[in-house]
Amino acid sequence: MKDEKISHLSWDEWDELQRPAAETVEFDAVVEAAISRRGFLGGVVAFGSGAAVMGTGILSGTSAEAQTASRFGFNPIPIQTDGTVHVPEGYSWQPVARWGDPLFSDAEELSQETAVSVGSSDRVFGENTDGMETFIVNGRQVITVNHEYVNTDENLPQNPEDEILSADDVLTLQNMQGVTVMEVAEGPDGWGIVVDSDLNRRITQNTPMTVAGPAAGHDLLKTTADPEGTTVLGTMNNCGSGKTPWGTYLTCEENFNGYFGSTDAALELSDDFERYGLGLEGRYAYEKFDARFDLAENPNEPYRFGYIVEIDPSDPTSTPIKHTALGRFKHENAEVVIAPDGRVVVYMGDDERGEFMYKFVSTSVYTPGGPTSELLDDGQLYAAKFNADMTGEWVALTPEATGMEAAEIAIMTRVAASAVGATTMDRPEWVAVNPVAVEGYCALTNNSDRGEGAANEGGDAMVAVADTPNPRNANEYGQIVRWRPADGDHASDTFDWDLYVMAGNPTVHDDLYGGSENIKEGNLFNSPDGMAFDSTGLLWIQTDGDDDNEGDFAGMGNNQMLVGDPATGQIERFLTGPKGSEVTGLTWSADRKTMFVGIQHPDAPFPDGEGMLPRSTVIAVKRDDGGLVG
Ligand code: FEO
Ligand code: CA
Ligand code: CA
Repeated sequence: MKDEKISHLSWDEWDELQRPAAETVEFDAVVEAAISRRGFLGGVVAFGSGAAVMGTGILSGTSAEAQTASRFGFNPIPIQTDGTVHVPEGYSWQPVARWGDPLFSDAEELSQETAVSVGSSDRVFGENTDGMETFIVNGRQVITVNHEYVNTDENLPQNPEDEILSADDVLTLQNMQGVTVMEVAEGPDGWGIVVDSDLNRRITQNTPMTVAGPAAGHDLLKTTADPEGTTVLGTMNNCGSGKTPWGTYLTCEENFNGYFGSTDAALELSDDFERYGLGLEGRYAYEKFDARFDLAENPNEPYRFGYIVEIDPSDPTSTPIKHTALGRFKHENAEVVIAPDGRVVVYMGDDERGEFMYKFVSTSVYTPGGPTSELLDDGQLYAAKFNADMTGEWVALTPEATGMEAAEIAIMTRVAASAVGATTMDRPEWVAVNPVAVEGYCALTNNSDRGEGAANEGGDAMVAVADTPNPRNANEYGQIVRWRPADGDHASDTFDWDLYVMAGNPTVHDDLYGGSENIKEGNLFNSPDGMAFDSTGLLWIQTDGDDDNEGDFAGMGNNQMLVGDPATGQIERFLTGPKGSEVTGLTWSADRKTMFVGIQHPDAPFPDGEGMLPRSTVIAVKRDDGGLVG
């Protein structure tokens, strides 16, 4: 591990420390078993060249050379290892919102010595920017954006050794996570927050929200403070995002397990706590200062997290809704698409080594202007099963198939998916649906555990199988799986699949670990994570991987954003992030002339320069000639 500081660990690294892999996978041992790179790819990366994906050449208007070579209107950039952001020639970037920037004029500016005060902590832009979406509310542009977790050494710089020392420290951290709703506008100096906009809002780990769907009111959701099991305080570890056609935001609760601990070191944890990674020690010592997070005091509180939460960005007084019908797991994002018959389809990944991909299909249909309140509460949840013949199926998680009641399926969704034999995946991160072709993509970021004899926490095997979307043991690079639903209908139960790209390093490996044929020296990356299609059908890929630029990762540099053309398989590098950062979250201005990109947890004094605190930041990227960027 390149950085031993706990506060700098990713959630996967932190989880791995809490729950080391059952079996160490010898990297070299798996290489012998792998079929040749060319042979494998001949069979698996199959859809690309024949795909009929058209668009009008966004990013257009650049050099004729670039135009004829690809649909990308930029010259790809090299890797970087420095502390700032780089974009192609002819493009510029600027910060829009940094952790600690006031949303309201009564909030204090961030101090370099004491960061954000507890009193201002729910009045400022939160920490660790992640998924985000743009909404137009009465002609005003509103970005709704997640704040995934915190970095205690930067957030509490006055405390020795990153320690969390008081209830005020905990409250400060709780307030800097959750979601920001902020109006943004472009003026002479570029984009910025509209301070004091009546649309600005912070949703934190203490904001009241309603529980809806099959788990609402279930005994497992009842606590002393909420005997009805229908009102929860807060949302947490908000990772990827989603957007409904009816103008609401979906925020996805990922590593909720890490916020809970026990003041009783002898407390026995149930099997389902183990399945969901709950342990006796929380990452941020909440349990010592806030009894809600103490499993010894409030054993049901964890059942109230791990859901998709819907927020109405047009109404700052609205109560967020936790939609339990979409399942409880480590939700990455929620990609919403409308099926031909009008039903709402939501694709979702569970980001854990060896967990599953899911899909929800509503019972009722969406009609513009019609009622939407039941759409995400009444429907069928499915888990994905991938077959070696490159077909697959969405297996319905019904009481009959799982032996569980509907509420139990909603709460113990991982157990239900195990019961139907869903395929263990290499950490499903974002799902993105192509707007100009009926196909979905999921970033399978990496899986250090995959190997002979390995299993997920539910006991489901995790060995690599060549003809599956997870073909490599000790998968350190990741891949992107693509599926095409039967009959061109995202509500279909079956699909065909292939791999759009398998990341790798052909300068180091000449086997499967060298990656697929669309990987070359000029576009090396590892650990695809955030993904979004632009309006013309180009796939933007953000990374959250190993950025030490050495050994197996040589030539990959800092985390980055690339863009892929689904029709040709071509992938090129568009942006590089500062050292230590993850590039995550992507949305566009209404006129598509600005792209907003999230830079999370830089390990460099970004964006303010030497001697200043590193600040997670949403940046705006534009073309210097004012052209479209997606
Ligand atoms: Fe928050 Fe799986 O990324
Ligand atoms: Ca992610
Ligand atoms: Ca990740």
